[in-house]
Amino acid sequence: RQAIVIDTDPGQDDAIAILLALASPELEVLAISTVAGNVPLALTSRNARMVCELAGRPDLPVHAGADRPLLRPLVTAEHVHGKTGLDGHELPAPTMPLQAEHSVDVIIRSVMERPAGSVTLCPLGPLTNIALALQKEPALAQRIGRIVLMGGGCFEGGNITPAAEFNCYVDPHAAAVVFGSGVPLTMVPLDCTHQALTSPARIAAIRALGGRIGPAVAGWLAFAERFDEQKYGQQGGPLHDPCVIAWLIKPELFRGRTCNVEIETQSPLTLGMSVIDWWGVTERPRNALVLGEVDAQGLFDLITERLGRLARH
Ligand code: BDR
Ligand code: CA
Repeated sequence: RQAIVIDTDPGQDDAIAILLALASPELEVLAISTVAGNVPLALTSRNARMVCELAGRPDLPVHAGADRPLLRPLVTAEHVHGKTGLDGHELPAPTMPLQAEHSVDVIIRSVMERPAGSVTLCPLGPLTNIALALQKEPALAQRIGRIVLMGGGCFEGGNITPAAEFNCYVDPHAAAVVFGSGVPLTMVPLDCTHQALTSPARIAAIRALGGRIGPAVAGWLAFAERFDEQKYGQQGGPLHDPCVIAWLIKPELFRGRTCNVEIETQSPLTLGMSVIDWWGVTERPRNALVLGEVDAQGLFDLITERLGRLARH
């Protein structure tokens, strides 16, 4: 089993990523660490616990982390995710505790107390906690197996500014630390996630799973879809963060290439832009496997099958 730590800012798509991980026997979720992003930290920490309880995992340690980016003021995305971050289906208030240990420390501990290379970090939000952990423990970068993150865009451009994707935009300085860390990286950019779109049939299949999971996930997907359809005039809403978990379980659903990726931290116009050398026009180090394509139906089939396991509990 692959040991992972999920660093997250739920978010409907984060929530579905967490459920997918918890439903998948290939993965051992060591801890969930939260960060400010889609909504402020108090809400992401609350939402993460509600999602664990929905999955029947009140035992899972959930840790709160950075409440703001390294240098910039926090930018949130209630216009996408609603006031709670999980609008679309209401869950009961969480009863499981939030751990006393900070996200940064649980990330460091989870990696350092296990064999080198054996833990994968899965950041699904701004990279603040990951950057802080790399800075606090200089030996960390050498010991992380891989970081598989949702962030950035290549030919697709941005979704919060014309140039930048939300997670990289909110904390561009943290993203620059991570992309410069030397840790093996897999990057799921908007180019990939904008192929993973909901449809009425895909949402209906999830709703039909029943239990507590079916209506919850279907409600969130329907909510997320409203925003993207109005905004981009496309059919369906994208499942960003579940692609991170799906790549760990079934990498054959994805295609990508290993490229140099750098993050812009200076220009007001392109702040947080991921500059991806897709065509290899520079000699800069190829620091990330960038996923450019996903088999969308295969992804939805995987998610539906795995969520079905949770629904039967
Ligand atoms: C990313 O930003 C958030 O809104 C989503 O949860 C995802 O992690 C997409 O740009
Ligand atoms: Ca997210």
